[in-house]
Amino acid sequence: MRLSGKVAVVTGGGSGFGEGIARRFAEEGARVIVADLDEAAAGRVADSIGETALAVRADVAVGEDYEAIVSAAVGAFGRLDILINNAGYTHRYGSMLDVDEATFDRIYAVNVKSIYHSAIHAVPVFRAQGGGVILNIGSTAGIRPRPNLTWYNGSKGAVLTLTQSMAVELAPDKVRVCAIAPVAGETGMLHRFMGNDTPERRAQFLASIPLGRLSTPRDIANAALYLCSDEADFLTGVCLEVDGGRCV
Ligand SMILES: NC(=O)c1ccc[n+]([C@@H]2O[C@H](COP(=O)([O-])OP(=O)(O)OC[C@H]3O[C@@H](n4cnc5c(N)ncnc54)[C@H](O)[C@@H]3O)[C@@H](O)[C@H]2O)c1
Repeated sequence: MRLSGKVAVVTGGGSGFGEGIARRFAEEGARVIVADLDEAAAGRVADSIGETALAVRADVAVGEDYEAIVSAAVGAFGRLDILINNAGYTHRYGSMLDVDEATFDRIYAVNVKSIYHSAIHAVPVFRAQGGGVILNIGSTAGIRPRPNLTWYNGSKGAVLTLTQSMAVELAPDKVRVCAIAPVAGETGMLHRFMGNDTPERRAQFLASIPLGRLSTPRDIANAALYLCSDEADFLTGVCLEVDGGRCV
């Protein structure tokens, strides 16, 4: 059991990568807060894990909601060791000029401002406990941007820079901050990244991934497990590309 005794929060834990991470962490002995905007989805995942998981409905873009996530972890399980900023949002694949202002604001609120809220509410808990881990889910889109997802790509670039900056600033507190950059995966968001989900479009996506397949929630969860475990004790500020070679 690589996470026994640990308490983890997974935002966006009701679906896709977040669900995979919540399940994998529970298998390895963690108690898990499954936080999601979609209450039913969070409840489904937490119920299927059992009494070591708790569902919390929250919008990570809202400070009070983030505070409630952290309070739920401490209230239900007595501590907080790992915080995974996984919930994300994107505009649909298309010209940067076709994205309206409200959509732009929502992308940055969910993908970037949530990390601010996580720091404000979780770092004091980590400091009091003597350490902790924050794992931010970025994207290959923030490292090797391609056209038609411009505003989303920029938000994921911010995720990577924040990860590095938080890592150096929080290192004296023994708080490690790392990121994962997944390549496209078969989750709820994929259709928004692809535009038209045709066999030709899929072939185009696959052609850019040397290992020849999309990522899976299990791929992302295994990488998250390593980065959040004590085995990665000396790693901070790193971004692990889980991308079948896409960023090479
Ligand atoms: N799927 C991909 O191709 C891909 C590739 C690279 C990175 N990512 C990133 O992975 C992360 C997870 O996405 P996914 O692909 O598993 O998608 P998904 O749609 O399957 O899951 C996202 C979950 O986040 C929840 N959510 C959305 N906004 C929220 C908010 N404001 N507050 C709380 N919960 C919220 C949704 O309800 C959903 O359950 C995102 O940050 C995404 O940008 C995805």
